[in-house]
Amino acid sequence: MLTPEVSTPASGPGTPAVPGPDAFRRILACDMRTIRPVHYLDHAATTPMRPAAVAAYAEAASTVGNASSLHGSGRRARRRVEEARESLAHHLGCRPSEVVFTSGGTEADNLAVLGLSAAAAGDVVAVGATEHHSVLDAAAHLATDRGGRKDVRVLPVDARGAVRIDSVRDLVTEVGPRLALVATMLGNNEIGTLNDVADLAAPAREVGAAVHTDAVQAVGHVPVDFEALGVTSLSLSAHKFGGPLGVGALLIDRGADCRPIGFGGGQERDLRSGSVDVPGVVAMATALEEAVGEMESEARRLTDLRDRLVDGVRRVVPGVIVNGGGERLPGIVNLTFPGCSGESLILLLDAAGIECSTGSACTAGVAEPSHVLLAAGAGEAAARSSLRLSLGYTSTEADVEAAIAALGPAAERARVAGLGLTRAGAGAS
Ligand SMILES: Cc1ncc(COP(=O)(O)O)c(C=O)c1O
Repeated sequence: MLTPEVSTPASGPGTPAVPGPDAFRRILACDMRTIRPVHYLDHAATTPMRPAAVAAYAEAASTVGNASSLHGSGRRARRRVEEARESLAHHLGCRPSEVVFTSGGTEADNLAVLGLSAAAAGDVVAVGATEHHSVLDAAAHLATDRGGRKDVRVLPVDARGAVRIDSVRDLVTEVGPRLALVATMLGNNEIGTLNDVADLAAPAREVGAAVHTDAVQAVGHVPVDFEALGVTSLSLSAHKFGGPLGVGALLIDRGADCRPIGFGGGQERDLRSGSVDVPGVVAMATALEEAVGEMESEARRLTDLRDRLVDGVRRVVPGVIVNGGGERLPGIVNLTFPGCSGESLILLLDAAGIECSTGSACTAGVAEPSHVLLAAGAGEAAARSSLRLSLGYTSTEADVEAAIAALGPAAERARVAGLGLTRAGAGAS
């Protein structure tokens, strides 16, 4: 996605209200402050909106109507929402009535963890150690007085970062029907490891527990079939597969007992009050349709690019460690650069036009070691020295080559800076 030549920013007379695909790609490909090419390798944080989704959004946004209103405009808005719901259900293996629209992945995860536990008779809630904070912190809240003092357990992961099936079986044996909820993600956002959710869900469902899976990073990238997974609920977020930010869904079994976490007009099966974001859900469905249509070829292309990236970085930075392994999402690479701080690497790479992350974008900027790498057995130092490079539908060979070329010198400089810091630290103690 390299287009160095940049015309004027998209404003001024004659500029279309909605940028066409070419203008859109040009904006994405360049940093407007420096007019230099940018290689965006942070698709797991958010992926560019697909032009078809932008067009669908703009079209829906230029039409009035609250999907709860009874008049013609309201009914037309409702029809768009229901068509989007049917399309999502078709691609994700659930019934349309099982789709609850939300403001994104965080809200869907919160609703599942808090709502399902509140309705359950059991008092034990188990979450995978590498879950996103929207699951982990919701579970931590449940352990407090205000959250009902649930007995919250953390399920350990193996060295690849996958939840250990024996940990679920052992817990079921220990607590039996006290088990209220198990939450294990489908694809990890930092290292890309895929859990075998169907296998993990089975023993928990046998004792009547609800099972939630966070599929925010998986939907649109690997096949996801709600029914086949055998879970109670599944979260997704449009901006991870080329839809807009701020819209997502919770797929939830029609028979599941779940309490709402917000109150109002009783929309979305009374589980998620608030006017439905009509353009958002229409654009989300458009993006998913496109992502699913090209999933197979994109998975092959991205796996190839990912392997080239890893091979290339190994060549220029001897000693680099590749995190995760086994069944993985095609676009996520997580690397540890011993002796380098992840934050230094990000800044050095940013200056070279390479945009990536230290891990979850939601926690980036907070200089803490990655809880995902720690859970998978890395030491503190290694967990602070890692980078996530994530590829998506706009990624090209040029992006990968540019990242490889920039990583050699960046790692060298970050290591030298790290040595300086270590010496200063040693002197101070
Ligand atoms: C695995 C996972 N779950 C949940 C979320 C939160 O999604 P959203 O940004 O839509 O709130 C993210 C976002 O990075 C994620 O990666």
